[in-house]
Amino acid sequence: MSQSAQASDNKQPPLHIGIIMDGNGRWAQKRGLARTAGHKEGLETAKKIVKACANAGIKYVTLYTFSTENWKRAQEEVGYLMGLIKGHLRSEFEFYKANGIRIEHLGDLKGLPEDVQTEIINAKEETKNFTGLTVVLAINYGGRDEIIRSVKKIIEKQFDSDSLTEKSISDNFDIPELPDVDFLIRTGGEKRLSNFLLWHSAYAELCFTDTLWPDYTEDELIENLNEFYKRTRRFGDVLIK
Ligand code: IPE
Ligand code: IPE
Ligand code: MG
Repeated sequence: MSQSAQASDNKQPPLHIGIIMDGNGRWAQKRGLARTAGHKEGLETAKKIVKACANAGIKYVTLYTFSTENWKRAQEEVGYLMGLIKGHLRSEFEFYKANGIRIEHLGDLKGLPEDVQTEIINAKEETKNFTGLTVVLAINYGGRDEIIRSVKKIIEKQFDSDSLTEKSISDNFDIPELPDVDFLIRTGGEKRLSNFLLWHSAYAELCFTDTLWPDYTEDELIENLNEFYKRTRRFGDVLIK
């Protein structure tokens, strides 16, 4: 990368970016390939973009990898995705180490096949001391499911409803310390959230690109980040008082 994302404007890089990596199936279909070929290529893109995020000074990147609704897909596609996730987590320790990447998981772990659960737990454990970039893999993740699971935990603790706050909800999420999303990118042309990080994206800046995920590049990430640096965030306040 020739250009530093930070140099575009004197603003800080986003602390947390979320990426909805959409368009793998269409990428493959355009080439007369099976949808699974798009997922394989999409994984290569994810690795490149994760490295570029680290270079841009971002601290957390959450990748929407498999949603709670993606189980509706054909068994063959779901099985392929689970295998891809498992194989990647098992074989990429050197990649994480070389890039200082810490792996975290967001989503309902217990709803995943046991062998995938094991690889997620191992990858988290093996990378827990790396300090460069936290890559949060949202696998079997749904924003509504995350809120429901948090509320269930709160009720189980016989929580006094008068003391319920935003913090008590977020303290019971899978990763309580995960910051709000500053910048949310969706590839693949659709302009929707599809149940991704509903709580954390309350004040996220949104960016939609038509590029299909396997075609997304480091340069486009820098372009999109430069768009982020131009945004004025108000969080409900006014600029001049
Ligand atoms: C995103 O690509 C990856 C997953 C949902 C797992 P899609 O598979 O949704 O690709 P399109 O949207 O059908 O092109
Ligand atoms: C969102 O994409 C999920 C992931 C990228 C993992 P989808 O392809 O599942 O979303 P919809 O169905 O187009 O809303
Ligand atoms: Mg899609």
